[in-house]
Amino acid sequence: MKDLAGKHIVLGLTGGIACYKSAELCRLLIKAGATVQVVMTAAAEQFITLVTMQALSQRPVATSQWDAREANNMAHINLSREADACMIAPCSADFVAKLAQGRADELLSLMCLARPADSVPLLIAPAMNREMWSHPATQRNLAQVAADGAVVLGVGTGEQACGETGDGRMLEPQELLDELIAFFQPKVLAGQHVLVTAGPTYEAIDPVRGITNLSSGKMGFAIARAAREAGATVTLVVGPVSLPTPRGVQRVDVRSASNMLAAVTEKAPVASIFIATAAVADWRPAQASEQKIKKDSTSATPELSFVENPDILVALAQSPRGQSGELFCVGFAAESHDLLANAQAKRLRKGVPLLVGNIGPATFGQDDNALLLVDELGARELSRDSKLALARKLIADIAVRIRARG
Ligand code: CTP
Repeated sequence: MKDLAGKHIVLGLTGGIACYKSAELCRLLIKAGATVQVVMTAAAEQFITLVTMQALSQRPVATSQWDAREANNMAHINLSREADACMIAPCSADFVAKLAQGRADELLSLMCLARPADSVPLLIAPAMNREMWSHPATQRNLAQVAADGAVVLGVGTGEQACGETGDGRMLEPQELLDELIAFFQPKVLAGQHVLVTAGPTYEAIDPVRGITNLSSGKMGFAIARAAREAGATVTLVVGPVSLPTPRGVQRVDVRSASNMLAAVTEKAPVASIFIATAAVADWRPAQASEQKIKKDSTSATPELSFVENPDILVALAQSPRGQSGELFCVGFAAESHDLLANAQAKRLRKGVPLLVGNIGPATFGQDDNALLLVDELGARELSRDSKLALARKLIADIAVRIRARG
């Protein structure tokens, strides 16, 4: 099922060079299953044509409060009553000021003011020059707009069309789409701090070689994203993978199991939920060579000896906060066979209330998976689905357990 299936979005464009990104945003919204009604101000029309936005949204663009084609001649009412959300992207400094003052002298601001604020949320994606962004008037207006109930999505940092560098760029279309999808997810983990480990670890043999595994990190990243969508503060401690960080998630990159334990130990005191998805190496070479091990005719074939790595999940589950339940610990098990029996045994061995089993070779690197949730009462299967869909179901399940714990 597409993330925005059944949702009707009013996409408002105001004057700004970032209008070129709104064309891509419109496409992404439609690909995600939404229907999109574009509304443009006269200033927006200076930056992108109605033709482009009509073609992408497959609907005529609304531009005027005096449009005689509306049977009741009340475009501002009709547009907002149908919407599940209004997103203004780009939202210019001038338009922020209009929202703050409740002005209504053209269709888009009129529609924002006339919308039923309780049922039609307003999300704004500001876009402007860095000086305009940091001006006290703009910041004051943004604070007012947020206090009036709008969701202010923040801005990107970097090179601006004017040649200056700083804050004020509009977020990228994919980021705006992710923000909108997240907005519609139930906030079942509001107030929780979720710590997630993901990816493989890398255990050095020498400066250029090491031992790692095939974990892609995708399941852990999906869980971090789903937890953030559910309203949690999320820290993701991740071994060497090159996946993009989910929006709003704090990422800590590590290499070895020991690095991962150190990072997790530092973050754990503020966490209320720990989800260990990382495929941590069980052993590491006893002695990593400081110099590259060379192959020459006189040297013998090198032999490696190993020492056991710390078990990060056990360390946290056995900590006082883990034991008292203040830190709810969830383990993962990547098995190759006998999933239920192995997962049950592993849950007891790790000392965690919930263990999530999956078949490792069938999931590593894939975009979908199937999960088996094992707790003291038995097992429940989450059937094959995308990793993000499964992550959302797992987060919903964890939220129920957290609520039941009180
Ligand atoms: N784990 C961990 N630290 C380790 C090893 C594992 O935190 N040093 C966590 C994993 O992130 C996962 C769970 O423990 O949540 C199970 O990991 P797994 O490697 O499947 O289990 P093992 O204890 O290594 O058992 P086995 O290799 O025998 O299957």
